[in-house]
Amino acid sequence: MSSRKPALNLSTINPSIINVHYAVRGELALKADQYVHALADKTEEAKSLPFEHVVTANIGNPQQKGLNQVPLTYWRQVISLLEYPDLMNEHLEIAKKIYPEDTIARAKKLYEEIGSVGAYTHSKGVLAIRKRVAKFIEERDGYPSDPESIYLTAGASAGVSSILSIALKKGEGCLIPIPQYPLYTATLAYLDAAPLPYYLQESADWSMDHETLLKAVSEAKTAGTPVKALVIINPGNPTGACLSKEAMEAVVTLCYEESIVLLADEVYQTNIFDPEHRPFHSFKKILKGMKKEIADTVELVSFHSISKGVSGECGRRGGYFECVNIADDVMEQIYKMASVSLCPPVSGQVGVDLMVSPPKKEDASYATWFKETSLIQDNLKSRSNLMAEHFNKMDGISCNPAEGAMYLFPRIHMPQKAIEEAKKRGKEADVMYALDLLDATGICAVAGSGFGQEPGTYHIRVTALCPETAEFVGRFEQFHKDFMAKYA
Ligand SMILES: Cc1ncc(COP(=O)(O)O)c(C=O)c1O
Repeated sequence: MSSRKPALNLSTINPSIINVHYAVRGELALKADQYVHALADKTEEAKSLPFEHVVTANIGNPQQKGLNQVPLTYWRQVISLLEYPDLMNEHLEIAKKIYPEDTIARAKKLYEEIGSVGAYTHSKGVLAIRKRVAKFIEERDGYPSDPESIYLTAGASAGVSSILSIALKKGEGCLIPIPQYPLYTATLAYLDAAPLPYYLQESADWSMDHETLLKAVSEAKTAGTPVKALVIINPGNPTGACLSKEAMEAVVTLCYEESIVLLADEVYQTNIFDPEHRPFHSFKKILKGMKKEIADTVELVSFHSISKGVSGECGRRGGYFECVNIADDVMEQIYKMASVSLCPPVSGQVGVDLMVSPPKKEDASYATWFKETSLIQDNLKSRSNLMAEHFNKMDGISCNPAEGAMYLFPRIHMPQKAIEEAKKRGKEADVMYALDLLDATGICAVAGSGFGQEPGTYHIRVTALCPETAEFVGRFEQFHKDFMAKYA
């Protein structure tokens, strides 16, 4: 037997990795996967399960098997032509039979700009695409945008972790909303930086409370932690809340006064349910509308993605970030770090192009694109409303209806006996609830503790993406009744 000791074990690898937690793909998701495989393989375990299929309500991945959001035809047509360019040349006659004219023209133009999708591009992403992103931002906000300040990325996640790792030194603080999408706590743990939680107010539709923010800043100062960055997710994950203009201005003012860089995660900007009553405003627009001293100085990085919205192209890995008011020498460092990973995935870059520049009304593809995207928006909104309505009818659950994004975050008013039982099992009570829910119904949700929550409160995050909403709600309700009766 070799006496060689493995170079890698839990005490020799980077300790920061051990501190990384990511609930969305944690214990529950692994168990759900195990059930999916057991059911597919019709194993002995499957025979004993009280459900026939697993409902994936744990992750905002619309095209996932079981959720089955249909990819937008226009996207897949353009992308397929770029993947097989012969269809635009010697096989053009065949292509003309299946692809609308404008799709072929769009793919040809992109092909001229990019060339083969198998080649590296500029590290910031293809310039022509960045120019169209800048135009999209200008039209959205009414303020100029510079393509040189825009980076295409492998999803928003890659952009967020790159910017956090550039902005924060070990031990420095980053304000994060609680509850939050765990990308932030996970990345900060990896960087050995300090997450500084500020609580969102559930009793006020998950809005931000300025006093709470100020308190978080002053506590960090007292503890000697420099406050370097502030993360804000708007519309919110997991809360589904969309911020008011006033709340956003207050955040920008704080960043101005305290010299904090503002990181705005705006990946759900097109998933807005009631745009008249609660429209989405970008932080860029709010910032640029403030007095010059603020507009020209507060550093902002905002993130967007093709994984959400109406495209739901999570696996393609496309997104971008825009830097505003970042010093030139720091911009050089951002560029250097982007160069280290050569370039973002080209098919993700193409996705960004299609997101920011969809077919126009006069194009042959428009009618189909409009029909498909409207259906996706309508489904999301009606499922979300229906689920919130039903949650609120269940004894022991209260749920703020979502204003946007893809999730609901109902609060479980946990019986004391359930809390004690969870303690015995060595788990948080909402983790026990979510595990029992999965075992009893096949519904895979995420426990609120994975996102952070006010101590003493318990939540569950579910996506509003399941096609069989009525069945989902029915199964959930039965489980919840049984759970509450068991621990009454
Ligand atoms: C708030 C938020 N930001 C970022 C991401 C990551 O998105 P991407 O797939 O673009 O990396 C997600 C994914 O669910 C998210 O909810």
